[in-house]
Amino acid sequence: MRFLLRKVGALLRELMARLKKSDDLHAESIEERRPSSFPALRQKGGKTMRKIALVNQKGGCGKTTTAINLAHFLAGGGKRVLLIDLDPQGHAGLGLGAEVDHAEKTIYEVLLGEIPINEAIQSLKENLDAVLSDVVLSGFEQVMAGASEREYKLTQSLVEVENNYDYLIIDSPPSVGLLTFNGLVAAEEVIIPVDASFFSIHGLGKLLDTIRIIEERVRHQLNIKILATNVDLRTNFCRSLLETLNARFPENCFNTIINTCTRLREAAREGKAIAEFDKNCAGYRDYRSLTREILDEEPEMLARGFTLESYLAAEGRLKLEEEREILFKVEAPEEAVVQIAGDFNEWVPQSLEFTESQGRPLWHKTISLRPGSYAYKYLVDGCWIADPNNESTVEDAYGGVNSLISL
Ligand SMILES: Nc1ncnc2c1ncn2[C@@H]1O[C@H](COP(=O)(O)OP(=O)(O)OP(=O)(O)O)[C@@H](O)[C@H]1O
Ligand SMILES: [Mg+2]
Repeated sequence: MRFLLRKVGALLRELMARLKKSDDLHAESIEERRPSSFPALRQKGGKTMRKIALVNQKGGCGKTTTAINLAHFLAGGGKRVLLIDLDPQGHAGLGLGAEVDHAEKTIYEVLLGEIPINEAIQSLKENLDAVLSDVVLSGFEQVMAGASEREYKLTQSLVEVENNYDYLIIDSPPSVGLLTFNGLVAAEEVIIPVDASFFSIHGLGKLLDTIRIIEERVRHQLNIKILATNVDLRTNFCRSLLETLNARFPENCFNTIINTCTRLREAAREGKAIAEFDKNCAGYRDYRSLTREILDEEPEMLARGFTLESYLAAEGRLKLEEEREILFKVEAPEEAVVQIAGDFNEWVPQSLEFTESQGRPLWHKTISLRPGSYAYKYLVDGCWIADPNNESTVEDAYGGVNSLISL
């Protein structure tokens, strides 16, 4: 409770400060910033994490139940999973037995840029990490009103951990506001759970329209799949509904359906995934089957997947760590051809410029580097040479040495 009060106080202070500032910030339309075609997103050498968001503006249709159990089954199968709760109700954490009310570091602080995502990640079980939320997150949309890049906050925060996980599962609130939008920007796959007992085809049509609009705006493909939940096959209504869904969206329906299963409800109340609660119920079998279906799609999805870093870089929205200007210089005759190649330019030689310094022929180039270690060499008249001014070296793949700079 104390944490909560402190956070609400902080939220109010922040809100006031931002409201004051918001006049200065001009709201950027996403449309205005788009390049004219989809960029080449897959980063060279980058590892691709599957990024799946559970979305439906309708409440109570099984988003959280699916997020929890899918994440849990994937982790149980050895996949490294990060579950992000973007819903201020905080149900994803509760459903997995986490103490949401006492979480000091939540997705809210991460989205606001107050802490790196690493600080908010909690390990819930082997292979399953989570960033949880609580009620304070409901202020996010107002706090961010007018702020630039507000739809990219989740994606930007995830870049530093995307190589640590095989799957990102995002649980969304029952609305298509800024929080859901942040999830959709980070996602490549969307699962729309459709509650078969309350289904309205009109509602689904509206949701698909919304997602198409968002997809166009975020300018990356979203693979959209519909999951029928809370299905009672004994009723004609549910059977005809499944037929309608499959006929209307033949490419977008999972083969798996999630039957009505009270054990799922009870497991959530106990703070457990169904696999920890009851292995002899329909809910267990259905979510296991859904997980298998998703795993079966893995090769295809990974082949066309992209890294968040390359996506943000293509959009010009990558938050760079502080770059430093490094001056590289080497002595060589004026008539020589002098170039430099290294990890920082993917070993594609770049030319240096010539000057005379204190009567000595000097070739130089300034390169902006982010913190890290970089191997490099000069190429003088076609001969590779290590930097004579740098004692730090590292072996290269050909039995020689490269110079090494560490920042
Ligand atoms: N297949 C099912 N059979 C029976 N109960 C279910 C099933 N799936 C989910 N429930 C229960 O229905 C309720 C709503 O499910 P859930 O919280 O997953 O929906 P949600 O879409 O995340 O809701 P919200 O939009 O409020 O976040 C929960 O009590 C959950 O335990
Ligand atoms: Mg939910």
